[in-house]
Amino acid sequence: MQGINYSERIPNNVDLASNKSLQRALERWQPAYLDWWGEMGPDQSQTLDVYLRTAVSVDPKGWAHYDYVRMPDYRWGIFLAPAQSERKVNFGAHKGDAAWQEVPGEYRSTLRRIIVTQGDTEPASVEQQRHLGLTCPSLYDLRNLFQVNVEEGRHLWAMVYLLHAHFGRDGREEGEALLERRSGDSDNPRILTAFNEKTPDWLSFFMFTFLTDRDGKFQLAALAESAFDPLSRTCRFMLTEEAHHLFVGETGISRIIQRTCEVMNEHKTDDPARLRGLGVIDLPTLQKYLNFHYSVTSDLYGSEVSSNAASFYTEGLKGRFDETRIDDDHRLQSTEYEVPDVAADRIVSRHVPALTALNERLRDDWIVDVQKGIDRWNRVPEKAGIPFRFSLPHKGFHRRIGLFTDLHLSPDGKIISEAEWTQQHARWLPTDEDRAFVHSLMGRVAEPGKFANWIAPPHQGINKQPVDFEYVRFS
Ligand SMILES: [Fe+2]
Ligand SMILES: [Fe+2]
Repeated sequence: MQGINYSERIPNNVDLASNKSLQRALERWQPAYLDWWGEMGPDQSQTLDVYLRTAVSVDPKGWAHYDYVRMPDYRWGIFLAPAQSERKVNFGAHKGDAAWQEVPGEYRSTLRRIIVTQGDTEPASVEQQRHLGLTCPSLYDLRNLFQVNVEEGRHLWAMVYLLHAHFGRDGREEGEALLERRSGDSDNPRILTAFNEKTPDWLSFFMFTFLTDRDGKFQLAALAESAFDPLSRTCRFMLTEEAHHLFVGETGISRIIQRTCEVMNEHKTDDPARLRGLGVIDLPTLQKYLNFHYSVTSDLYGSEVSSNAASFYTEGLKGRFDETRIDDDHRLQSTEYEVPDVAADRIVSRHVPALTALNERLRDDWIVDVQKGIDRWNRVPEKAGIPFRFSLPHKGFHRRIGLFTDLHLSPDGKIISEAEWTQQHARWLPTDEDRAFVHSLMGRVAEPGKFANWIAPPHQGINKQPVDFEYVRFS
């Protein structure tokens, strides 16, 4: 029942064969997808054999199977978490009704937009990361990059399945458009700004998976609460895959910190210029990358106060993180939530109806989760006896969406003048010089067990394999 049928052209656990027209439509989309993967997927990966995990069941235990896969032969498919019998709508105006198996007409265009926006981020990140394999710091890292990439590809399949299965002709057209937009393309860009930024080096990649894939986790968790049951089931399975992406980011940065601390102690120095000369990334530069990716990703949650977010919730389309574990009325008719505000050149807070503050609430949930990762990073310098600690900048630092858009804030949350920003921002955000330095460290290390000088090896390998396992075979 939970098993996935790999004997069909499109592996699936949704009994695709029983719906011939849907199956045919998806089989027409499949070659277009593979063309996109060939053009925009990982550069020069066509002949590589990669030790990848593939979903073989959606059972929480043992869904993953590990083996060498030739990259373009990866079996992308459609996997939904098992249906919960008699699932109900858990929030909003329809709370208590049976969850919807079909899209209600009045919410059709809104739901389609939500699914397309989520779907668009998946191929976008593959495009952003497509050249990174050429400068991998190890085979272990190369394998992890490709694992993330194939799963983002599968997440696109997940959303396209929903579009084809539930939105008819409009859905099929959206499915095509998802393969036509391109990250960073000025004529036909991806929908969200953060997904049009470059991911030019591995430091950016790890920050992206730590922060931006974590946005993905929170968006998916909110959609997993949806009254539209197929969306909920799809997102629940995607979340199990997402956990690995967050692991890659968090441990990637942690290993960079580890390596820098080792060199700092070995040479008894915290001088960034000397450390750079020794081929590691100084901790203040890591903090600047963190500031950049944190602020750009924060924008993905949208404006602090949003009537759209309120409607999505009341209509039952998108819930809160951990909706069913929250102890309240799940309608939010009379509760309030604290959001930031600006008064007389100072940041203050004010209470607004909780219903309108759902973007901010989801952002806050994400920040709590990010902070836990930062706390784990900080144990590395702590153990090494180095006083440096990483910290998150103020929420309003370097924002392009919402309340803070037209303001300049320092990382500690003071409103500053344009002139002061111009003078100071190079201390807070990566400069061209910082980026050029990080870029200069990137070079392919492709021998089993070897790691680039700027990153420590992981504590353990993938699927209990040794660290020096041949995770990628160049044949
Ligand atoms: Fe994803
Ligand atoms: Fe992801």
